[in-house]
Amino acid sequence: MSNVSEFVVVANRLPVDRVPGTGTGAGAAWRRSPGGLVSAIAPVMRRREGTWVGWHGAPDEVLEPFETDGMRLVPVMQSAEDVEHYYEGFSNATLWPLYHDVVAPPVYSREMWDAYVRVNDRFAKAASEVAAEGAIVWVQDYQLQLVPAMLRKLRPDLRIGFFLHIPFPPLELFWQLPWRRQILEGLLGADLVGFQLPGAASNFVRLCRRLLDARYNKQDVYWDDRVVRARAFPISVDVGELNDLIARPSVRERAEEIRTDLGDATILLGVDRLDYTKGITQRLEAFGELFGDGHLKPGQAVFVQIATPSRERVEQYQLLRDQIEQQVGRINGEYGEIGFPVVHYMHTSYARDELVALYLAADVMVVTPLRDGMNLVAKEYVACRSDLRGTLVLSEFAGAASELRRAYQVNPYDIDGLKDTLRVALNAEPAEQARRMRAMRKRVIEHDVDRWARDFLSALEQSQHHPEQHPEH
Ligand code: ADP
Ligand code: G6P
Repeated sequence: MSNVSEFVVVANRLPVDRVPGTGTGAGAAWRRSPGGLVSAIAPVMRRREGTWVGWHGAPDEVLEPFETDGMRLVPVMQSAEDVEHYYEGFSNATLWPLYHDVVAPPVYSREMWDAYVRVNDRFAKAASEVAAEGAIVWVQDYQLQLVPAMLRKLRPDLRIGFFLHIPFPPLELFWQLPWRRQILEGLLGADLVGFQLPGAASNFVRLCRRLLDARYNKQDVYWDDRVVRARAFPISVDVGELNDLIARPSVRERAEEIRTDLGDATILLGVDRLDYTKGITQRLEAFGELFGDGHLKPGQAVFVQIATPSRERVEQYQLLRDQIEQQVGRINGEYGEIGFPVVHYMHTSYARDELVALYLAADVMVVTPLRDGMNLVAKEYVACRSDLRGTLVLSEFAGAASELRRAYQVNPYDIDGLKDTLRVALNAEPAEQARRMRAMRKRVIEHDVDRWARDFLSALEQSQHHPEQHPEH
């Protein structure tokens, strides 16, 4: 196999992650990496020949390129210090909260910024070494926003796309960032910059105009004698994979078993990375109060909350974990009875088939982020419910809300509103459930992850290096 590739994806994460404590030799174990980026990009990469440049999750470890599941993976090293300052630091203590409406205070540190520049440079070099002449390179997400410009400098022959999986903040918030200009210039190295929603693309163009005095025309920015397109491409799920899973008798049997194990109570389900953007405490608070108010009785309804451990060394994540564990204890202590806890909380990652069994078992899927780029869990639930049963309670602040109009939409900050909506969703008649689910399924099935990738890549292939129209301004 040739060492260079016509199609290269660059992301902070590889699709697989070292299991800590299993060593580096032949005994080393691997697991699926967490999060929506990997859920979306992995099926796309499996179906196209290409190379994936990314980190394998273990500090200080240098690994040779290898192949798995039909994908060529090129690991990029991160030292323990890089992990602390670039990954946990600038990516997840600065950019993550800043881009999610500052729901936690962002940390601004020059040491972290230096690490971000250094590691972005390493990713750009790694990509430049594996890309064939004129290749397409698709850079992913907020951890690598400097890579497009760095890569263009090294390899002007490449066609470079960038996709941001998380929200892109309005000018009023982005302005806080001490390195705001460098981030925009980094992104402008791409030919096409993709966002989840049109509003994010508009935020970006507005910032280029105000901060860099760039010329623009609608959602095209003119920069360095090139045109950079900013467009929305809402990401989605692998409907084919989920269809295969729901067709498995073992998955259906498991769903039945879960229902029986929970005493045939009505099941409300939350599935998230343990992240303060996901609104987990708000949904648990609302659910607990329904017992306090006498609307629900122990044994009648249960909340199953599955939370994947995430970014565990970042302070805000540690605080959140303590807060949720206390809250679950308090709610069960207050409202549960022997044999009837009202919340089942699991701090762990589940295998795909077990997750799908949970989706099939759940009567109400509760997705209440305070801000979320898209939220694939909401779309996965819809894709799995070919039986047209179940209801989806969805935050207005998730990107998915603009497509899943038939979900029961809520403002998760409004606990009374959330309680009312949970009650409506709990009591929806089967015909109403089916009507809503049918409409949502149509959208997800017609706009699956393959379509997302096709739309992005064909827009990238069509992107011109030179402007055709006269810009405004
Ligand atoms: P994010 O990318 O912020 O984590 P998304 O909802 O977009 O949020 O994507 C999360 C992905 O991770 C989904 O594909 C979901 O199925 C998966 N996931 C979330 N929680 C778990 C869990 N506890 N176990 C296994 N997979 C999970
Ligand atoms: C979100 C981000 C991804 C990230 C994932 C998991 O989906 O958009 O870029 O990979 O969360 O987070 P982690 O920090 O574990 O990579």
